[in-house]
Amino acid sequence: MDKMTPRQIVKELDRYIIGQNNAKKAVAIALRNRWRRQQVEGSMKSEIMPNNIIMIGSTGVGKTEIARRIASLSNAPFLKVEASKFTEVGYVGRDVESMIRDLMDTSISMVEKEKENEVVELAESLTNERLLDILFPNIKSNNQTEESKSRYDRTRKKMRKKLEEGQFEEKIVEIEVSNEPSIGMQVFGPTGMEDIGMNIKEMISSSLPKSKKPKKMKLKDAREVLIEIESDKLIDQDEVIRLAKERIENNGIIFLDEIDKVVGNNSGQGPDVSREGVQRDLLPIVEGSNVNTKYGTIKTDHVLFIAAGAFHVSTPSDMIPELQGRFPIRVELSKLSKEDFVKILTHPKSALIKQYKALLKAENVDLEFNRASIKTIAELAYEVNSKMENIGARRLHTIMTTLLEKPLFEQPKRGDKKILITAKIVRDSLKGIVEDQDLSRYIL
Ligand SMILES: Nc1ncnc2c1ncn2[C@@H]1O[C@H](COP(=O)(O)OP(=O)(O)OP(=O)(O)O)[C@@H](O)[C@H]1O
Ligand SMILES: [Mg+2]
Repeated sequence: MDKMTPRQIVKELDRYIIGQNNAKKAVAIALRNRWRRQQVEGSMKSEIMPNNIIMIGSTGVGKTEIARRIASLSNAPFLKVEASKFTEVGYVGRDVESMIRDLMDTSISMVEKEKENEVVELAESLTNERLLDILFPNIKSNNQTEESKSRYDRTRKKMRKKLEEGQFEEKIVEIEVSNEPSIGMQVFGPTGMEDIGMNIKEMISSSLPKSKKPKKMKLKDAREVLIEIESDKLIDQDEVIRLAKERIENNGIIFLDEIDKVVGNNSGQGPDVSREGVQRDLLPIVEGSNVNTKYGTIKTDHVLFIAAGAFHVSTPSDMIPELQGRFPIRVELSKLSKEDFVKILTHPKSALIKQYKALLKAENVDLEFNRASIKTIAELAYEVNSKMENIGARRLHTIMTTLLEKPLFEQPKRGDKKILITAKIVRDSLKGIVEDQDLSRYIL
């Protein structure tokens, strides 16, 4: 990801998302700009602000899907949140700063995992030595002779070989495990400061003596436990926190989904006041501020924000002006055509048709669709979308479940080896429902 050019990022997204080239391009440029900024020297570096993006597009055209894909593509700390779950400070609910805390948690576990990979070999060999100590304790006494020492060393060497060959995996061994003292209480901090509650809890539990308890288990399970203990000892937690923080401050990405849910349409009625409050709370974070977390303060100046919303009843210009200014790039996602539907059904790596094939494969049934059937499914989905609410590619899900209800229910009992779906089958099983508006409202 770090080294992916904008073109490569778009190409990667193409494997999962059909069309929506403008959105893909905008995202690719923004991602690459993170890396470009890292290459800039001197004071200019801190002046370059991320160009936050708003993706606008009606429901089911791929906004969230793009977010999901960049999450798995980027090795930067990434968080996807629904703006609608935030409430203004002072109200019950989550405050907006919690997203930075969540992002920090993600970043910490990313760095931890990397560090674990770095030390895993050493941890494994240390664990093997500890297992040997358990399997084959060295009886230390003062009057050990040279001979008995070297005999011990020889035997230990042989045992090590056997251990490495996996000869003792099923053997029951006893190891000491520390059990976290559990505090049977819930700590409530002041509203919107869940972290403080958590810190108090941690403080109390670290002040209690950690009790160690001997536990018997199979050697292979004991190995897992011991590797964890050993790698914990090898990893410098302060460094993990420092790296995690650095990563967020330079490369963090927050995907604010459903942003339109906190934008009123300025009709002057309803709960718009509190929505505007959320926008106002968002502003400093998007603009760049310091957020307190249990790992210290995080600067949000260079965190990239990508917002997305359907904007059915409002438009981005209904957002408070300051916030609009913080999202200079707007991309519109286009409505999906019949041809897009055909591609969405077949092309992406885990396209719907591939998914259903795999499901029935579990019953040893080969599910096949001919070209005409796929075209018909796409056409029907398009038709229902235009007659009723347009829910984009989501319609394909409902159509497919209805279409395949019978085989999904009847297999494996019927014992078919192969099921071929033709255009006629699609029409026969769906046409009636599509034409009856009342029925399709409920079923499709
Ligand atoms: N362009 C596309 N290419 C491939 N799959 C798509 C595309 N658009 C939508 N889909 C599929 O449709 C479903 C819904 O898409 P998604 O969740 O991205 O909608 P959305 O744009 O976020 O809508 P909403 O505004 O309702 O949140 C997903 O399962 C996704 O796989
Ligand atoms: Mg969505």
